[in-house]
Amino acid sequence: MRVLGVESSCDETAAAVVEGDGTPGGKILLRSNVVHAQVSIHAEYGGVVPELASRAHIQNIHPVVTQALADAGITPQDLDGVAVTCGPGLVGALLVGLSTAKGLAMGLGCPLIGIHHMEGHLMSPFLQTGDEAAMGFPFVALLVSGGHTTLLHAAGFGQYRFLGQTRDDAVGEAFDKGARMLGLGYPGGPQIAGLARGGDVAAVRFPRVLLDKTRFDFSFSGLKTSLRSHVLKDEENLRSEQRRRDVAASYQEAIVDTLIFKALAACRGTGCQQLLVAGGVGANRRLRDKLQVAATKEGVRVSFPPLDLCTDNGAMIATAGLWRLARGERSDRVLNARPRWPVADICS
Ligand code: KG4
Ligand code: ZN
Repeated sequence: MRVLGVESSCDETAAAVVEGDGTPGGKILLRSNVVHAQVSIHAEYGGVVPELASRAHIQNIHPVVTQALADAGITPQDLDGVAVTCGPGLVGALLVGLSTAKGLAMGLGCPLIGIHHMEGHLMSPFLQTGDEAAMGFPFVALLVSGGHTTLLHAAGFGQYRFLGQTRDDAVGEAFDKGARMLGLGYPGGPQIAGLARGGDVAAVRFPRVLLDKTRFDFSFSGLKTSLRSHVLKDEENLRSEQRRRDVAASYQEAIVDTLIFKALAACRGTGCQQLLVAGGVGANRRLRDKLQVAATKEGVRVSFPPLDLCTDNGAMIATAGLWRLARGERSDRVLNARPRWPVADICS
């Protein structure tokens, strides 16, 4: 089966073609993977501007889909189905991908399937090529991006258990807002990570908010407030480059420690020894290195997909779509965008 996946929930316009025999959890051949990122459009505003995102999706969706088909060396008629993210995300942005996918599926007379964006991220281990020992089910997934901080247990395809999520800011937002307070650009994650290099992680003791230690919820708004008051108090000091590095390193460390604590607690709590980290924040070097060490000590194997599969892409949506279509699932023409589709809805 060959399936086209379309993703436009936030600020990436993406399409990809995957091929597989339809066995859930089985091997997937990535035929193409095209992503048009909008970072430069939103950079001057310090965050994603929904209306600008929708407009850019409208401009880019057709070129991106056409390129994905061309790179795969196929025509639209060769498709066995079309999969599309229908939520959660920005409603205007979602509608662009959804309308395109619906029109294509109707025109071709092939099946359409709507996919939850978070299920898409859970597919990233199956898209990795050249790694014989790529991770399979079961695993705990730590999904960390600009919009999400979520822990799930995936026993198999479609067998997910919700463990916890942030009660306020997503971890990517904590990076982005923190960067703004430090006078850095957008996206804030790579900027803070860059400034933190050469900084002392113990210079400022920022709070590690763990809420109820037996649960898997997160909260980052207190940390953000703590940075704000620190910046106000320390204005003079922050003129020194070394002091700025120390503050960035300490702030990043508080985030990283919190993520590691909760992710490993989730592994322990579920008795699972495989951990997937997906989403843009998964690119963070300090998180990767420190989590790797901590996980190894506990006998947990961690998988960080390569960056292009870790951030939003069409391949992950196509894979979830392929496996759902192979099971006989279909969405009908009234499929609509679900901007606030709770992740708990895809969990049992
Ligand atoms: O998954 P993603 O590309 O887009 C969505 O939010 O869906 O994640 C973007 C987020 C941004 O908040 C960005 O600051 C953060 O990922 N990010 C990082 C790093 N690279 C990107 N955060 C920390 N360290 C990084 N190296
Ligand atoms: Zn995402």
